[in-house]
Amino acid sequence: MAAFAIEGIRHAIGYAVHPNATRVMLLGAGELGKEVIIALQRLGVEVIAVDRYADAPGHQVAQHARVIDMSDGAALRALIEAERPQLVVPEIEAIATDTLAEIEAEGLAEVIPTARAAQLTMNREGIRRLAAETLALPTSRYAFADSLDDLRVACNAIGFPCLVKPVMSSSGKGQSSLRSADEVEAAWAYAQSGGRVRLDRVIVEEMIDFEFEITLLTVRARDADGEVRTQFCEPIGHRQVLGDYVESWQPQPMNPVALGRARDIALKVTDALGGRGIFGVELFVRGDEVWFSEVSPRPHDTGLVTLITQTQSEFALHARAILGLPVSTEMLNPGASAVVYGGMDARGLVFEGVDEALAVPGTELRLFGKPEAFERRRMGVALARGHDIDEARARASEAASRVRPVAP
Ligand SMILES: Nc1ncnc2c1ncn2[C@@H]1O[C@H](COP(=O)(O)OP(=O)(O)O)[C@@H](O)[C@H]1O
Ligand SMILES: [Mg+2]
Repeated sequence: MAAFAIEGIRHAIGYAVHPNATRVMLLGAGELGKEVIIALQRLGVEVIAVDRYADAPGHQVAQHARVIDMSDGAALRALIEAERPQLVVPEIEAIATDTLAEIEAEGLAEVIPTARAAQLTMNREGIRRLAAETLALPTSRYAFADSLDDLRVACNAIGFPCLVKPVMSSSGKGQSSLRSADEVEAAWAYAQSGGRVRLDRVIVEEMIDFEFEITLLTVRARDADGEVRTQFCEPIGHRQVLGDYVESWQPQPMNPVALGRARDIALKVTDALGGRGIFGVELFVRGDEVWFSEVSPRPHDTGLVTLITQTQSEFALHARAILGLPVSTEMLNPGASAVVYGGMDARGLVFEGVDEALAVPGTELRLFGKPEAFERRRMGVALARGHDIDEARARASEAASRVRPVAP
């Protein structure tokens, strides 16, 4: 066994590509996984990047690249047994989480943050019942439905406007907002087409008329005494279009009462999920009122902004926390991120205007290296610092708009 032992007080990291290496397996090697991998590698860790297609962004920067269907439990187990990582780090939701639970129970590898967290958050019902019913956190009113008839009843009970979402879905897929009972049938049909797996269950949520929404990045990491402690980043504001984030900024100004409530909610939900690592807690805010929406037990896409605002980005925080190392959530300067989309369906896109984008003061760019583009696929992100969030947002959108994807 390698020198790395998370439960031990003495902490050593075996060096990469050597039998004593500290080995970490990333399940999902998209743009968020890629940044986690880079952060791990800076600490000398050997990374096995896994995705369902070849040449995923994280594959391109890891020592080992593997392609499997991660929702196939047998394939996932076989890979973990063959590679023997000390840590298994889910980066996406669509994973055979029951297999992760077995692997954790057998002590084959540690699952980040915990297999239970991965299980509960891959299904909207699991995390919603935990938050609203077990922890009594404020959420939108909700109901579940398994058929069109059920859905009519559920929508009438919740009232209009409301939202309908497949329980197993992400990035806004299969989601509808409904203004009246006339729209129920279309919402049901759309939910069936947009779910990740064919599971006819949906959640109906009351539409919250929020002033703004935030991601509160919350990190559970060991402190100097070896105890796991919770720390918060400055709140991140963001704007969503069609269920996908378009721009984010940090810090989102908040009144102290709302901020206190947001932290209290984030503390309770992350305590319940346990383990070590970063969590993206999504909250809606209006005045002093705060509602819990959902949580990712992993880096959050809106948190890409921390690459330019914090001494330790959310990816560095995740890498350090999972390795049992201390963290700092210090923010250096206000900043913003703006997404660069594919704008077309094509393989091997070329990006023009990168020079013009980077001529905007205080900016950086991440191009993820995805081999295939779609119209609305996130291909990169512009990052900007500023004296305040208005300046940073203007710079980030300007830089993003100067990047022009063109067909090869
Ligand atoms: N109950 C709600 N009330 C108002 N807006 C909502 C509600 N649920 C979702 N939204 C909006 O839709 C976005 C995506 O919903 P979310 O539940 O986070 O789905 P996903 O898992 O696809 O991110 C949210 O960030 C928010 O802007
Ligand atoms: Mg969300």
